[in-house]
Amino acid sequence: MSKEPLPLSIADLPAQRASAPKSKAEARALYFNTGNAFNLQLPPVPDESFTAEPAKALDRDTPTSLIACDRSKGLGCDFPATTPLVLARYARIRAGETLETNFAASGVIAYVIAGKGSTLCGTERIEWNPGDTFVLPGGCKHEHRAGPADAVLWIVTNEPQLAFENLAPPQQGQAPTDLVHFPADEVQRQIELLYQVGRGEDIAGSALIFSSDRQEAIRNVLPTLTVAMNSLPAGKSQRPHRHNSVAVSLVIQGENCYSIVDGRRKDWSQWATTVTPATSVHSHHNGGSKSAMFLIVQDGGIYYFTRALGFEFADE
Ligand SMILES: [Fe+2]
Repeated sequence: MSKEPLPLSIADLPAQRASAPKSKAEARALYFNTGNAFNLQLPPVPDESFTAEPAKALDRDTPTSLIACDRSKGLGCDFPATTPLVLARYARIRAGETLETNFAASGVIAYVIAGKGSTLCGTERIEWNPGDTFVLPGGCKHEHRAGPADAVLWIVTNEPQLAFENLAPPQQGQAPTDLVHFPADEVQRQIELLYQVGRGEDIAGSALIFSSDRQEAIRNVLPTLTVAMNSLPAGKSQRPHRHNSVAVSLVIQGENCYSIVDGRRKDWSQWATTVTPATSVHSHHNGGSKSAMFLIVQDGGIYYFTRALGFEFADE
């Protein structure tokens, strides 16, 4: 019997198996090579804006529920995901009702789009108002209660990051953050201070970066996720730049604002969740008469830790 001819290149070899496995463990082994393993093509992270999800969350007929910005099918993930490591959702909580959540994440970031209410985390309760941001430990139960009017929250977690590695969320008390509250009036005061002091051209924008006692050393809110309140004065543009972190942003105020992402224009709409893909050359532009405000969550912590953030201006 003649032997099969060998392929011309190792790229044409199928995955190999042990010729004579002596155990089940040996039989499970697969052997790829530099020709047939590194050409795996994953679908790109789309540069898109989620607008149907906020419209549903802001619709008064929507019951108390979570609405995910889920692109898992397009990303080839078998778990809900907005980007490979980040999941954004909107929550509508009807007046006087309570939404209970328990996310399989290391931490949870929330922004109050509308309404007043409170969140109970363990034995601690905070009262929130529109424009507030807060951070919660993951792996435990939270109760979000709306006040006398319906409330809408934007909620972002790193559930996909844990799901990717099949990791369990932290045990009670082991999460990398405690409950942390950034009230809207204090955030505004801090932004005004940034503009009052000013900055050099070598500093990328005037974003207010949120952190806490537990995460002070890395200047983030969570080991992987960073949160920044970014503002852009009327008529101003950001310098084009790129980085290896993805950005998942909530447009808080963005009349006549747009982004240029890899040469394509993307118009903003209020309360949209907009994705800026990792490594894309991008800049944000304010063609309106009001200051733009957008809350940006990035998975930058993981790239910073691995010394691979790859930030650079793209206009030099
Ligand atoms: Fe950026």
